[in-house]
Amino acid sequence: MSGSVSGFFRQQGVLTCDGVPLDRIAREVGTPVHVYSGAIIDERYRELESAFAGYPHRFHYAIKANATLAIVRRMRSLGAKADANSGGEIEVALRAGFTPDEIVFTGVGKTHAELERAVALGLGAINAESPGEVARIAAIAGAQGRRARVAVRLNPDVEAGTHPHISTGSRINKFGVSLDDARAMIRDVARRPSLQITGLHAHIGSQIYRIEPFVRTATLVAGFARELMADGIALEHIDLGGGLGIAHEPAQPVVPADRYAAAVIEAVRPTGLHLLLEPGRWIVGPAGVLVTAVVDLKRKAGDGWFVIVDAGMTDLLRPALYGAHHGIEAVEPRDGEARGCDVVGPVCETADTFGLQRRLPPLEVGDLLAIRDTGAYGAVMASNYNRRPMAAEVLVDARGHADRRPADQADVQIVRRRQTLPELLQWDV
Ligand code: LLP
Repeated sequence: MSGSVSGFFRQQGVLTCDGVPLDRIAREVGTPVHVYSGAIIDERYRELESAFAGYPHRFHYAIKANATLAIVRRMRSLGAKADANSGGEIEVALRAGFTPDEIVFTGVGKTHAELERAVALGLGAINAESPGEVARIAAIAGAQGRRARVAVRLNPDVEAGTHPHISTGSRINKFGVSLDDARAMIRDVARRPSLQITGLHAHIGSQIYRIEPFVRTATLVAGFARELMADGIALEHIDLGGGLGIAHEPAQPVVPADRYAAAVIEAVRPTGLHLLLEPGRWIVGPAGVLVTAVVDLKRKAGDGWFVIVDAGMTDLLRPALYGAHHGIEAVEPRDGEARGCDVVGPVCETADTFGLQRRLPPLEVGDLLAIRDTGAYGAVMASNYNRRPMAAEVLVDARGHADRRPADQADVQIVRRRQTLPELLQWDV
């Protein structure tokens, strides 16, 4: 793979990010550290863009997947718009340079303060999740003398076939409203002078590996949109959320972006409506690794070894929360026979485990491991449990000098400083 110039590949045996050796970043920035490849983000965005090129569309990047300002800015520079899920994410979007009309606001429990801010800003769409929320938005907009743009989030009752924690489109889930409730809600929006109906929204879950749930959802939402339009409701868009899965193991079959695009476009085309999507993981997930150092090694009872690293579930929660599989590699593999290793963090819970029985080369204290595909829902889900400061984040950005091989040190930017203990403790009064 040494001919590669972007992404995570090895040069003289050492794992690099866009040609920058990960051990160099670890030495300079410390560990644990999240490292992102700007080149992968760009490539994946463009791949998605070309998959949807045949139909009017907009990508509202799901900020929740990776909310680090430099990443959100990069998405904007690529042409994306923004999907925010909280007041905090709206502020991130604004700081990244998005104008309010480029932001859609989704979320099952928007507070009064968040809605006041969203209405005052004049966001592109507030995706309303309940009749009560429609009434609250209307009251706020009325009081502010504004007209709020509202879309209705549907619960299409489609089983996404993903982990139950991140499956959102089934009728037992808390998200959106049934089509019957949506009919009444949309009439309600349409008759209120302080509201303007903009579209329909549906997001059925995340890390979805099959095409059928997407097709069923798109077909259902498109059919519903046509029914509403025939009834005289003027819609602007259909927003089908995010959810396209990525492979964490080579054997995992995934839906290719062009197939996903073709299927969704086919379903939506008869409406003639603008298509909005809210991709997150698919673009940024494979663009990140978590680099962590070995702090201890010990034999397990029975067979194999515990490899204890300085990253924990506080830096990457996915294995603990969803049983997610992430590839783990030695940054600079030593010669010798691979051994079965349980890679674990230092947190006082057995759930603080990154991988069981992984075949890894011989390791010593201080050696570096890279946990793969952590660019989405990695750093954003960090916590200070065990009073652990949050890790630094680094973006390797060789933009503008792609002809330099290997990438220069200047391409390495700390885009989020490591928290310090004094910073962490200052909130206690
Ligand atoms: N739009 C809405 C309304 C969403 O709720 C989400 C994700 C997305 C878009 C983006 O979905 P994506 O394309 O990234 O799959 N923490 C979990 C994932 C939670 C996803 C929540 N919603 C994980 O680590 O797997």
